[in-house]
Amino acid sequence: MVRKWTIWILISLGVLSLLPFALIARARTARTAEPRIHVFPDMDNQGRYKSQQVNRLFADTRAMRPPVEGTVARGQLQEDDHLYRGVRSGEWAAGFPMKIDREVMERGRERYDIHCSPCHGLAGYGDGIVARRADALQEGTWVQPSSLHTDLVRSRPSGHIFNTITNGIRNMPPYGFRVSVEDRWAVTAYVTALQLSQNAAIEDVPEQQRANVQEQ
Ligand code: HEC
Repeated sequence: MVRKWTIWILISLGVLSLLPFALIARARTARTAEPRIHVFPDMDNQGRYKSQQVNRLFADTRAMRPPVEGTVARGQLQEDDHLYRGVRSGEWAAGFPMKIDREVMERGRERYDIHCSPCHGLAGYGDGIVARRADALQEGTWVQPSSLHTDLVRSRPSGHIFNTITNGIRNMPPYGFRVSVEDRWAVTAYVTALQLSQNAAIEDVPEQQRANVQEQ
């Protein structure tokens, strides 16, 4: 005959065996401000100062150290107006601050296809996949990306286009923070090439190849 106490032991064991699951469930849902148990601290957590805190090691007690007096920044002055802002003698620069060769052009095409074509379309008519989707949704809040082939945009000097990429324009957001200075110029060069490609005359084609091109 089964003793009464064996039944009680079995019941207690059954309940106890559920305990780990209860603890895991609690650990997964509960929030705590205490750091978790860290058996091997390695160098994961170290004392540090946050900005604006006091550090009495220094006479002025500032934890944030100002640069040594007379220090001159190197490489970050961005003095070159043409390169960094697309401006020359106070006006939008017409040329490029670097040599534009095939390599730059191909980089420009790649960057354009990544950063600009979703809105402006691969050929620059303002019909990128995002623009088409927004049109289909008809939410009424979408501003059509400009076609890059209007007389207005074609008349923009390259410095203006560079600035449009850097800082955005009207409803277009800026891309300067994610496209480097050199890449922005490469994209500008590629936009110029796109514009030429959509507005070229038969005289622009080398004479030997004109026979291969059909005029429309
Ligand atoms: C999120 C969509 C979007 C992306 C991505 C985008 N644009 Fe635009 N772009 C616009 C819109 C919208 C306008 C028109 C803004 C307006 O008229 O308010 C515009 C306008 C322009 C214009 C015309 C500005 C003028 O002179 O009137 C140029 C040039 C241009 N974009 C170039 C670019 C280039 C180059 C890139 C890639 C680096 C790019 N855009 C990426 C949405 C975009």
